[in-house]
Amino acid sequence: MSFLNTKENYIKTKLEEMGLKSEKVSIVPSSKPEFGEFQYNGIMALAKDSKKNPRELAEELIEKLKDDKDFENLSVAGPGFINITFSKQSLMNLGNGLLQTKEYIEKLPKKKVIIDYGGPNVAKVLHVGHLRSANIGEALKRLAKKLGYEVISDIHLGDYGLQMGMIMLEIETRYPTLSCFQENFNEEEVKDLPITNEDLIDLYPIASQKAKENESIMERARNITYLLQQNDPRYKALWNTILKISLKDMKDLYQKLNVEFDLWKGESDAEKVIPEMIEYLEQKNVIKESEGARVIEVEENTDKLPVPPLLLIKSNKTVSYETTDLATLWEREKEYHPDEVWYVVDKRQELHFTQVFRASKKTEIIKENTTLEFIGFGTMNSSDGRPFKTRAGGVMSLRNLMDIVKTETEKNMIPSITGKEREELAEVIAVGTLKFADLLSHRATDYIFDPEKFSDANGKTGPFIMYSTIRMRSLLQKAKELNIEEIEFKTLKGTSDKKVLLQILNLQKTLENALEEKSLHEITNYLYNLNNTYNNFYSENRILTAENEDLKKSWIALTKIVYEINTQLLNILAIELPTRM
Ligand code: ARG
Repeated sequence: MSFLNTKENYIKTKLEEMGLKSEKVSIVPSSKPEFGEFQYNGIMALAKDSKKNPRELAEELIEKLKDDKDFENLSVAGPGFINITFSKQSLMNLGNGLLQTKEYIEKLPKKKVIIDYGGPNVAKVLHVGHLRSANIGEALKRLAKKLGYEVISDIHLGDYGLQMGMIMLEIETRYPTLSCFQENFNEEEVKDLPITNEDLIDLYPIASQKAKENESIMERARNITYLLQQNDPRYKALWNTILKISLKDMKDLYQKLNVEFDLWKGESDAEKVIPEMIEYLEQKNVIKESEGARVIEVEENTDKLPVPPLLLIKSNKTVSYETTDLATLWEREKEYHPDEVWYVVDKRQELHFTQVFRASKKTEIIKENTTLEFIGFGTMNSSDGRPFKTRAGGVMSLRNLMDIVKTETEKNMIPSITGKEREELAEVIAVGTLKFADLLSHRATDYIFDPEKFSDANGKTGPFIMYSTIRMRSLLQKAKELNIEEIEFKTLKGTSDKKVLLQILNLQKTLENALEEKSLHEITNYLYNLNNTYNNFYSENRILTAENEDLKKSWIALTKIVYEINTQLLNILAIELPTRM
């Protein structure tokens, strides 16, 4: 159990001895240094409930806590706050425990979670929204695993909607002689098309523009979508090839971002189960006819804004984005029986998920006690506050974005790194820079793309953390070369070195809060505070040349712990540490 947790439980038992029941005792960092290191602020509420004087209760509790020598100082402040200062020894014991067990992070009760993130669209460019989904989703997955959950990640490709009909129509127009459009259809030939991923990406905006401007083209695109959804062999063959071309490129990009999926399923995988799901829904008698379409009503009395019915089958007989999501839930429930399903998607899609979640509960496709969570994120904007676009006003591709950050990164790298190494390291640093910046604010807030700020090695940035971690690593390396063995805490100055240990007390809660809030800003900010505190300590002291051997060993031990935490947290954020920078 984490140090703070143990102390919280201790306070709880002492309160019980005093006849006071507290659901949750929290020891929190002090808001101001003059209030001690930590505080317990629960007394006022307990006093109110039991109609007692809060300051007297606080004094009484302090008397009882004095037996525990880990508390160096306890005092009452204001109406009944308890200020807490921990003893140096208690923190050194904690540090030595960590060095021995290497258990920095405690597990929570197990849960089975499916996490749906990434969500790129086949044959369309990956843009910053997809970056955010991949980045936040990957980190949440790793965090949940670290905290003991069983997690299944699914990319949920957008591979089944109207965009596929549009693209296939455009291909048909451009390459009418391909055998899939001819009498002599030959599946083998369609496996090997003269089309690259770049072609596909260029093609989509043109195809979509044409369809929007011309109703008969739109109608044909819809029809092709319908044929695809009916498993027409020609379009299915073409679709398979497009998928293959597109996936190769996507895999490459996700690898660069350190993003890994357990399942590479897509909207199209829902297809297999749609008929059985519809049959089930028919039996349940929940489908309504509406203007030629078939829908499920999901409105609730308490709605402040209208929630339109879920469109199950459109009047043109194709299925919608809602249907594939509902059917995917059907399949997920049957195959995995998850306790929770999380969706990391642009917050502008919230209504869609409200419809899907309600429909799935109402129809009992998903059990009442299964948690479905929409984890919406904000947009990355340019300095004018609008979503970040290319100069021409188009969507900014992820590759483009990475290149901009990479150019900025290279400006800050030391000149002695050259050639191929420089190129490779710049890539690693740029990805980490972008990721850290993307995780710095609460996920739901919009933020501004500012590569210069993101790269500032003195700011709240990825490079700041990377640089500080690399410096710790080289210090530990030097200590090893100097044969400084058996590092452990023996003594501390009790100044800036103690402050670093106090930061470590917050680790477990930080991770739990991040998981609770489903936002990584808790972790990026913690990393910043921890490293800032460590760097203050580092600049105040000469660690490797300290006169006092015990102090030297303790400081190296301290460095080792912070280094270890940095590594583990960067790993949760899926940020790779460069060898140098
Ligand atoms: N492909 C979608 C998009 O680009 C995101 C998919 C989100 N996940 C889901 N299950 N609908 O907007």
